[in-house]
Amino acid sequence: MRRGASEYLVAPLAPLQLIEVISGLYLDAGSNPIGRVVAVVGARGGVGSSTLAHNIGWCIAEEMHINTTIIDLDLPFGTVGLDFNDEASQGVVDALSAPERLDDVLLDRLLLKRGEHLSLFTAPATLEREQDSAPEAYEAVVHAVRQAIPCVILDLPHVWQPWVKAALLAADDVVIVATPDLTSLRNAKNIIDLLKTARPNDAPPRLVVNQIGIPKRPEIPTKDFAETMGLDPSALIAFEPQLFGQSANNGQMVIETSPKAPVSEAMRSLCRAITGRTMQGADAKNTSSIFSFLKGKKRA
Ligand SMILES: Nc1ncnc2c1ncn2[C@@H]1O[C@H](COP(=O)(O)OP(=O)(O)OP(=O)(O)O)[C@@H](O)[C@H]1O
Ligand SMILES: [Mg+2]
Repeated sequence: MRRGASEYLVAPLAPLQLIEVISGLYLDAGSNPIGRVVAVVGARGGVGSSTLAHNIGWCIAEEMHINTTIIDLDLPFGTVGLDFNDEASQGVVDALSAPERLDDVLLDRLLLKRGEHLSLFTAPATLEREQDSAPEAYEAVVHAVRQAIPCVILDLPHVWQPWVKAALLAADDVVIVATPDLTSLRNAKNIIDLLKTARPNDAPPRLVVNQIGIPKRPEIPTKDFAETMGLDPSALIAFEPQLFGQSANNGQMVIETSPKAPVSEAMRSLCRAITGRTMQGADAKNTSSIFSFLKGKKRA
């Protein structure tokens, strides 16, 4: 070190160790921390991935007081505007068409404020203009937002395009929403396997099984679902048509409409897991009951 070496490493070397040491050397103590990106995607269409993305975004912002932006990337059919009873706007499209212009001032103009800690990047939800922005444009928009906001939720559409794959690979956290059926099972497994292979040093994706218990619908038991995935679900959410329907009609989140409902509790504990805030009391008990349930034991 006296001769000018900044650091030395002793074999055997693990990739993470190398990354950590090099990033440590270039760490700029004066720079602002960048936000955590959480990508939410459905294993198939209509599973409730947007609803979940909006609810966890709202919960992290309003209940945990962490500044959060939800970016609606389903440009033709996005529902952020509808779900939050706000107007759909050109926000995301304007940003995507000129990501290099996206500074704090422009960002502030394009984002819709929804409460003290939550802001929304709504999609236009129109079919006139076809969108074919390059994956780099999506990456630049997410990058610009995370420079200013500590938590960024991506509401991804269920399509498989290069920009979607790139967004999933680059996210800090990936939440896959599946329903307990065969199509979801196959697709979720494919997405999980792809992510585990492509990012072996990152945390595995989180699996949420939604719409459990639709009357008369045969279901794959959650235990079998988890075994096939090789992944314990991070949340199990029951099918609650009245609660979800009423919330959608009122332009409210499920957690707002019914803060104490079991589905709200499940979403809340998912938010705690994502943000790394430790679980206490009731939430801790809830999760342990999920896992004992999955392992075929009696519920606590
Ligand atoms: N647990 C649930 N119980 C009852 N209804 C639900 C539940 N989860 C979601 N829904 C309803 O399912 C519908 C579809 O939800 P959502 O739009 O979030 O799905 P999506 O996966 O984003 O669909 P898309 O593929 O169109 O993007 C909505 O009407 C929503 O209110
Ligand atoms: Mg959606």
